[in-house]
Amino acid sequence: MPPRIRIAESYEAMSAAAAEAVARRLAARPSLRMLLPTGHTPLGMYRRLVEITRHEGLRWDRAQVFLLDEYLGLGPEDPGSFRRYMAEHLLRHLNPAPAVDSLNGRAADPGSECARYEQALAAAGLDLVVLGIGRNGHIGFNEPGSPFTSRTRVVTLTADTRRANAPDFGGDPEAVPPQALTVGIATILEGKEIFVLAAGAAKAPAVERAIQGPLDPAVPASALQRHPRVTWFLDREAAAGLDPELVPAGVGGGGSGAWPGSEGRNRGGAGRD
Ligand code: GLP
Repeated sequence: MPPRIRIAESYEAMSAAAAEAVARRLAARPSLRMLLPTGHTPLGMYRRLVEITRHEGLRWDRAQVFLLDEYLGLGPEDPGSFRRYMAEHLLRHLNPAPAVDSLNGRAADPGSECARYEQALAAAGLDLVVLGIGRNGHIGFNEPGSPFTSRTRVVTLTADTRRANAPDFGGDPEAVPPQALTVGIATILEGKEIFVLAAGAAKAPAVERAIQGPLDPAVPASALQRHPRVTWFLDREAAAGLDPELVPAGVGGGGSGAWPGSEGRNRGGAGRD
């Protein structure tokens, strides 16, 4: 099934579209189990989600939030940790709060921590997975070469990823932890529905290869072609490499490849977009 592709005029519009889609899923299913990403791309989505929560009384208390990945060696108090990021940009604004689980980067035995997390995800059953994409096509910290069958595990980051994430560590790639714990590709694909966010020209080649290229472990996000219910939220720049036939006619439009039961941009109604 082809993915749905929603292209917005700006980063803010892309973020708002993604936030509204997440909010609708949560409103329709208050016990939503979701796996959420970090990175710069989803910051606008989290800002908008916090606004929606405040202004529209969206409730999170029955929901469960899982984090996608974490640096090995970093804990919730470390400024560069993803747990800290999520607390700052989303979780501390939600009251009453959802249940939260994440990979503990400081676990004494990271291998057992990954096994624990994999089990927790399976027991919860993910309704919604939200992802960003690395400029090398990674999802979570599943770097190029990650098998599509991969599960939650410890990984070594590429030099490119450490350079890309250096701004979060004072600009020094060497200060970025060399290893991380990440939910695996097979685990991601078990989510019932997947949203992927990308913005900016630097992401255009990865977006193009993920959506239109062959299924190829060199582009981990191409594994998403195997999933029947994926929506890409893009700004114009990130969508620049896509075949015009795949791209919806009206910018900000409902997207192509709508799955049965979806109705483009129509609002309201459980599970719709
Ligand atoms: C990070 C994260 C990914 C994220 C990606 C892109 O390293 N592990 O989950 O999607 O890189 O990040 P950004 O949105 O900052 O470009």
